[in-house]
Amino acid sequence: MELAPPRGTTDLLPPESERMRRLYDLAHGLASLYGYRYVETPAFESTELFVRTSGASSDVVQKEMYTFEDKGGRQLTLRPEGTAPVVRAVLGASAEVSLPFKGYYVEPMWRYGRPQKGRLREFRQFGVELVGSGLPAADAETILLGHEYLQLAGIRDLRLEVNSLGDWVCRPAYREKLLAYLEANREKLRDEHRDRFRENPLRVLDCNDESCKAVARDAPKMVDNLCAPCRDHYDGVLRALDDEGLAFQRVDTLVRGLDYYVRTAFEYVSPALPEGQASVGGGGRYDGLAEVLGLTPTPGVGFALGMERILIALDAGGARDLGARFGVFVVTVGPHAFPAGRELVRAFRRAGVPAQVPFEDRPLNAQFRMADRSGAAYAAVLGERELAEGTVTVRRLDDGVEETVPRDEAVQRLASGDV
Ligand code: HAM
Repeated sequence: MELAPPRGTTDLLPPESERMRRLYDLAHGLASLYGYRYVETPAFESTELFVRTSGASSDVVQKEMYTFEDKGGRQLTLRPEGTAPVVRAVLGASAEVSLPFKGYYVEPMWRYGRPQKGRLREFRQFGVELVGSGLPAADAETILLGHEYLQLAGIRDLRLEVNSLGDWVCRPAYREKLLAYLEANREKLRDEHRDRFRENPLRVLDCNDESCKAVARDAPKMVDNLCAPCRDHYDGVLRALDDEGLAFQRVDTLVRGLDYYVRTAFEYVSPALPEGQASVGGGGRYDGLAEVLGLTPTPGVGFALGMERILIALDAGGARDLGARFGVFVVTVGPHAFPAGRELVRAFRRAGVPAQVPFEDRPLNAQFRMADRSGAAYAAVLGERELAEGTVTVRRLDDGVEETVPRDEAVQRLASGDV
């Protein structure tokens, strides 16, 4: 019996699981602050949903879908991304939401790729979808939300890259121009693209291969070929980002791996991530997606962030550690203090401080060992002296520094982080 988890998946155990949960907590908190509502969609959907929306030539559809037939003969696929399911749910048959709808999700996704650092077969995303507004301010709001999230998570040196991909009015003519250029430079392309660039010429612009990059540098750019409404929209987004004081970089060769994007496309890039997996997240506008599904044409914009990549970037960037020790372990000395310890734990928990206490009275050293192993940041010691005085000795477990303070003050200070 194989006891390792399936290839490309991970078990999340403390402390990694707790770092992940803090990322979830931060997502719930910040998305709610921006007025986004929590949504969940099924872990699997009809395969057609993703084929139609991600694009037949996308890596997701060509190589990475976990597709299976169920006992009823239906073709189903484990959700590789959250945008198409959310649009289906929000605008679909049973929807009773008013537009614009601002939703977010924190969910696992599945893609059958070659596992490597930052690329898993099962991974987690925090995503938001703003469905029902085509205004540049909507793009700017989602971009800002993702950026603020990553900063709060502790990511340093974050780079925001933006581009416009045009729409169904201006992109076809641009595509022809690009095709002609690539045809003329076919020999310089990497093997894979030499034969396949006609399927999706824009993808060549995104290739990491050095010779493809050289070709991309001189290729005609979408931004120089936008129709007037797309140009206005892009200018509006850039102005709104400026107004928010958000630093960004315009990257004319930025394209995304999924085909539903029109107009705005953006990525959050961290230099701490390996080349080829440098984006912690990305997104853009998908105004044509609803129509592709046979739904009322409805504009939308959103992003998704890869949670595992965020943790990798935090590790590599030496950022403050979300997985640091937290909470308090109550240590009691003597039979009288043991019941008082339970009371103190209740007081800490009421004040919002995660708190633990041994299940039975144990020798002092054993309790300190338990406190240390528990992952708590502090030990709160109740001995005979503290009991008599109504105090508690708070010891920081990583360096042993301690202070004896009145019990209420200890609770208050740990609750407010003032220790
Ligand atoms: P995406 O660029 O395919 O976009 O994925 C977003 C993020 O998910 C990536 O930047 C990366 O951090 C993470 N990710 C993707 N694949 C993997 C993998 N195999 N292993 C680990 N992390 C991965 C989307 O999924 C769109 N639905 C985003 C969006 C929302 N656009 C509009 N709304």
